[in-house]
Amino acid sequence: AVRHRADLVVLGGTGDLSMRKLIPALYHSDREGRLAPETRVIAMSRGGLTDADFRGKVDAEVRGQVPVDDPAVWQRFLERLHHVSVDVGGENRSGWSALTRLLAGHEQRDRVFYLASPPRTFGPFCRELQDAGLVTPRSRVVLEKPLGHDLPSAQRINDEVGAIFDERQIFRIDHYLGKETVQNLLVLRFANAFLEPIWNSLWIDHVQITAAETVGTPGRRGYYDHAGALRDMVQNHLLQLLTLTAMEPPARNDREAIRDEKVKVLQALRPISGGEVGRFTVRGQYTAAGDMPGYLDEPASTAPTEASRRVETFTAIRAEVKNWRWAGVPFYLRTGKRMPYRRSEIVVQFKDVPHSIYPGGTPNRLVLRLQPEEGIELHIMAKEPGAGEVSLKPVPLSLSFGKTFTARVPEAYERLLTDVLAGNPTLFMRRDEVEAAWRWIDPILDAWSADPALPEPYPAGTTGPAGAHELLGRSGRAWHEEEL
Ligand code: BG6
Repeated sequence: AVRHRADLVVLGGTGDLSMRKLIPALYHSDREGRLAPETRVIAMSRGGLTDADFRGKVDAEVRGQVPVDDPAVWQRFLERLHHVSVDVGGENRSGWSALTRLLAGHEQRDRVFYLASPPRTFGPFCRELQDAGLVTPRSRVVLEKPLGHDLPSAQRINDEVGAIFDERQIFRIDHYLGKETVQNLLVLRFANAFLEPIWNSLWIDHVQITAAETVGTPGRRGYYDHAGALRDMVQNHLLQLLTLTAMEPPARNDREAIRDEKVKVLQALRPISGGEVGRFTVRGQYTAAGDMPGYLDEPASTAPTEASRRVETFTAIRAEVKNWRWAGVPFYLRTGKRMPYRRSEIVVQFKDVPHSIYPGGTPNRLVLRLQPEEGIELHIMAKEPGAGEVSLKPVPLSLSFGKTFTARVPEAYERLLTDVLAGNPTLFMRRDEVEAAWRWIDPILDAWSADPALPEPYPAGTTGPAGAHELLGRSGRAWHEEEL
């Protein structure tokens, strides 16, 4: 593979995301030979650190998170790291001269500006970058979520960044797209012949997409009060999983062909608005249980407000893709904090056999598990051994990536950073995708905020409020809740 010589500039480079995800991912890339020798990582923050300070911080905080089998490789990695202090949107422009000095003479390298910082910094950063004359034709910009809090704010960010960078230079991250199973979903669907003929409303009863987390939101209230599960997880991660499940086969494995098909799915989502929201969506908020605090009692720097009381930490939605392939097939989406397990999966529930000659059969089910253990399971009916009466049992044909392949399963950010450095945007969201997702989300948010009712309480450590079970139960369906 070609290794591109690059300067990777990370705004928010000493922050949580950088120290927990980006720097470890870059180290793995280095260790496995995917970084060119010249590639540098330049963290920018308000911190006033020297290069040596920053290297010391990474040594102290990251070394324990990654496998360091050869100290010389770790040392080589540390030497790639630099730090520049910057005050985006402030008076002091000295950071920009420091960055200019560091980048001077390297105009031929790929320049990647990774904005792991709050979205209000995106526009000002790009403008100051351009004023400093640092945007080259080989530059790219990476935007972390959240990309706005509704359609107008997302459009504003896209306009501000789009005034400086071309769309082909803009990489919008959704880290779910970097997960192995997500990429495997495309391979499963489009590199095997047997699934595609039955991947439609004739054979599929419904689809469930779940992202359940055990964590709460300690210390995050400032962000979470104004986000909630719909903005934090559904607008991006769950809708991305939905598009990949529902999209038509693209003509080529190429950046635009795949994203063209994904955006068509978002545009086909049946709008949910006004009075329908009560029927098609559920909001929940966790309350204290055992030694787990409720959302309102989570440690935070400020006391809970009305926004805290109204924010959903759980949501379930019955979505529908109104096109030829999917008419009438519900796509149930669900995500929540403080659920009993951490599990993200796509469950495709097939229809029952047209005519049954055995008692006790259940329909086939395909489970694509993103985490905790990546794998694919096809639940089929089998006969239990025995000479007596025929007795049926659903059993999984099961593929565990961990057991089948010896290679380490990389973290999502490793794949995504490798793609950014190689200039491949296939697994990043295009402007029209992000905006189409908000166009579907906004009316739900509006209807929720017009509703005087608070989210339904659910005790921490449970699978969400009663409403989530009724959402499926009223059509005789149930969430896939199998013990792992
Ligand atoms: C982030 C959300 O985008 O995804 C977090 O902001 C959430 O609230 C996280 O915890 C989940 O990611 P993962 O990879 O652990 O499923």
